[in-house]
Amino acid sequence: MPDHDRIYREEAARYHEMIASQPDLRAVVEDIVPVAGLDVVDLGAGTGRLSVPLAKGAKSLVALNASAEMLEIAAERLREAGCSDRATTRVADHRSLPLPDDGADLVVSGWSVCYLCGSDVPGWQDNLAAVISEIKRIVRPGGTAILFETKPYYRELTETYGFSHRWIRLDYEFEDAGRAERLSRFFFGDELADRVARDGSATLPECAGVWWLKFA
Ligand SMILES: C[S@@+](CC[C@H](N)C(=O)[O-])C[C@H]1O[C@@H](n2cnc3c(N)ncnc32)[C@H](O)[C@@H]1O
Repeated sequence: MPDHDRIYREEAARYHEMIASQPDLRAVVEDIVPVAGLDVVDLGAGTGRLSVPLAKGAKSLVALNASAEMLEIAAERLREAGCSDRATTRVADHRSLPLPDDGADLVVSGWSVCYLCGSDVPGWQDNLAAVISEIKRIVRPGGTAILFETKPYYRELTETYGFSHRWIRLDYEFEDAGRAERLSRFFFGDELADRVARDGSATLPECAGVWWLKFA
């Protein structure tokens, strides 16, 4: 499996090229909570896949991420989308958020908490407890948290923390089969990319889980 920490430091633009071939997730978020007028925080915002569409209607948006290089692209995309007046970016780790108590209406996070909470990470349950505790601290009463993930270990979210859950399709629709192979090899490694090459398709099927919790 490729080294994702290195990719987030050195190949942020290529990561963005890959995920730009997936559907926009704003409608999935809007189905859970209308975003207009909300103070939104995106944890592990990366290149802004969630931050950019959500910032357009939000009152404010803070994009946090461990890698400054990923955030540089998010900041540029937020500027291009005309959201600089309400959106900021900041380097931060999920376990210690540089934000005040009760300041957010909505916290979102896409494919990022997994780096602390995969079942192969020592202490992952303590990490998950620390992340959930930080989310609860920064969300106002009545606010919402929405997490997107692909791996199933998030069962803990429903069983221990009371999240609701559903699956969505999130296929990659690359421009051509060559790009499908190149970008899947870059991020997912040879085993998957070899399969993509054999299939010869520009579409890489993908499912993702959505977990959400409304705070009392
Ligand atoms: C797969 S990318 C997801 C980016 C974006 N949310 C998206 O959906 O495209 C994972 C991101 O999480 C960030 N990340 C990993 N561990 C982190 C941590 N402990 N705290 C904050 N960000 C982290 C990485 O730097 C990377 O930008």
